[in-house]
Amino acid sequence: MAPMQIEIVSGEAALAARAADIICGAAHTKPDALIGLPTGNTPLATYAELTRRAASGACDVRAATVYAIDEFAGATRATPGTNSVFYRQHLRVPFRAVHIPNPGAGDPGEHIRAFADAIRRAGGLDLCVLGIGVNGHIAFNEPGSAAAAPARVVELTAASREAHAEAFGALANVPAHGLTLGVADLLAAKAILVMAQGGGKASMVRAAIEGPQTADVPSSWLQRHHDVTWLLDEAAAGQLSRR
Ligand code: GLP
Repeated sequence: MAPMQIEIVSGEAALAARAADIICGAAHTKPDALIGLPTGNTPLATYAELTRRAASGACDVRAATVYAIDEFAGATRATPGTNSVFYRQHLRVPFRAVHIPNPGAGDPGEHIRAFADAIRRAGGLDLCVLGIGVNGHIAFNEPGSAAAAPARVVELTAASREAHAEAFGALANVPAHGLTLGVADLLAAKAILVMAQGGGKASMVRAAIEGPQTADVPSSWLQRHHDVTWLLDEAAAGQLSRR
């Protein structure tokens, strides 16, 4: 197994530029690449950079397809705070298509299983980009998620709901459940890029990279993938013992 790559850069612009290099690189190598993308604050500058590069012709993703890695359950595609609204607002990049689970699906469990099946049938993700939650989650695989966890409906933790309170207008508006690709679906991607910035993520980054593989820290399961790159700013890398 190849060792995991750890890249440490200074500042948000450098993080965004490097992430954009990797995403554009995947689409350059394979124009019709399937790419999993996260929401959150971390990738915002990256998505802005991709928009600029696509507009200038420096990056061509027009044949690549995006799959959102998670969504809330029990809302509509127009509910502020949902990932559906997030991607419409922030991912203004001319991909061939951006597929997002439907937060209003009548049978959410069946819906997210079919979503993951569609990715498998299309050949699987060539690149999956991830952020990590303050509690170590990846997509909405909250602590307690096994390495074999499939795509499913999950109950969101208090920490995750609080992190989205502002986007939904109030904590009470944040859905109790999420739809997520499972840890197993994320690990099935051919390559993984994990982004983290800020000192608030430092202890989780250390636990994920240097700690034991455990369901308590779902991002620690990434240690068993053969092609994972951690892209960190100095603060997020601040607690790593090996640099
Ligand atoms: C959200 C998403 C994750 C994301 C994480 C980190 O809850 N479900 O996919 O990676 O939180 O968000 P941020 O980048 O804002 O810290």
